[in-house]
Amino acid sequence: MNEKLLTAFDAQQQACAVLGSPLTRDVVGFCYGNFAANGIIAKLVRGWQGDPLNDNVPLRLAGFAHYGALAGDAALRIFYESCGGVYEDAARADLEAALEKLFSRDEAAARKFLRSTPQTNETGRAAMLLLGFSEISKRLGLPLRLREMGASAGLNLFFDKFNYRLKSHGGDIQWGASDSPLTLDATWRGAPPALAEKIEVVSRRGCDLFPVDIQNPQERLRLESWVWGDMPERRARLLAALHIADKAPPEIDRADAAGWVAAQIMQRPKGAATVLYHSIVWPYLGVSQRFAIESAFAQAAEDVRPDAPLVWLKMDGRALGEIAQLSYRIWTGENGPQGEEVIIGPCHPHGVDLEINADFSPV
Ligand SMILES: C[S@@+](CC[C@H](N)C(=O)[O-])C[C@H]1O[C@@H](n2cnc3c(N)ncnc32)[C@H](O)[C@@H]1O
Repeated sequence: MNEKLLTAFDAQQQACAVLGSPLTRDVVGFCYGNFAANGIIAKLVRGWQGDPLNDNVPLRLAGFAHYGALAGDAALRIFYESCGGVYEDAARADLEAALEKLFSRDEAAARKFLRSTPQTNETGRAAMLLLGFSEISKRLGLPLRLREMGASAGLNLFFDKFNYRLKSHGGDIQWGASDSPLTLDATWRGAPPALAEKIEVVSRRGCDLFPVDIQNPQERLRLESWVWGDMPERRARLLAALHIADKAPPEIDRADAAGWVAAQIMQRPKGAATVLYHSIVWPYLGVSQRFAIESAFAQAAEDVRPDAPLVWLKMDGRALGEIAQLSYRIWTGENGPQGEEVIIGPCHPHGVDLEINADFSPV
């Protein structure tokens, strides 16, 4: 097990270096050295039950360090850009001393923190989902009743409040309020259709096994702590989205998607299109959960009427780390229980790049 932990630290250090986070690389580097020297990190994670790499043990530790800085640890804050600090390689010994102090002093809090898996809410994915919502809105001409499974903090439920700057072969596209606190940049390759001028949303609700309550200061800080401390753009995006969501915090039910989806789609109010959607959630579900969701759609699809249509929008893949795909299946009440599947195209799992299929025929 010790070997596996050392391998996990090593792999994560290299990944942080490639992904441009020298601070997180050195936090994980500290964990490696301290673990190997039988220090506080060894005390915390030795004998880890499970696979340390799959369980993201190095990132859980790095998350706790960032959480400590955000929560006010003065000795650490000076290294975190998220706290107004700066980190240079030459400061590594001082960083390590501050980390050792934090983990030793707050051992009980660290143990508690380590129980949760890294959980982000990537608003960049809204720059892919937008095209799906726009197509659905244009096609049905009805306001959308949004239901998101695996919603995390529910920030993408506010996709219509963001400002989008999209690069495409046909020229730049802007959508949304240009004075929104959150601007998302993305590339849409292929031939993007004209977007709906306005997309009306009548209600927003989500579910998650571990919903993040943005009104709870600790949970909010934890969400912030998963964004690496020297990635100011990602942090700014998260804070801007939180600012938008704060105006009307979303309702995120603590529920397994398998049962929740059925409850949300079986009873659809008239005069709205119920859009069940998800981004990078499918790979986390077991076969029986996927089957339950597919069965719920098959059952709901038997009884769709034109004044209460149903849509399943996915920005998702089959396995983690794979290219995702943007697609939707729509039941209008006039196209039979199979409905119609529309595949828009493959996209980057973080939502920075969408390739619209040549045979995609927009509304
Ligand atoms: C990679 S995150 C994506 C979060 C969000 N959709 C986004 O795009 O930022 C996957 C989310 O799915 C949730 N999840 C995993 N299994 C679930 C299940 N069976 N039911 C509900 N949510 C689940 C996780 O808790 C996590 O918040």
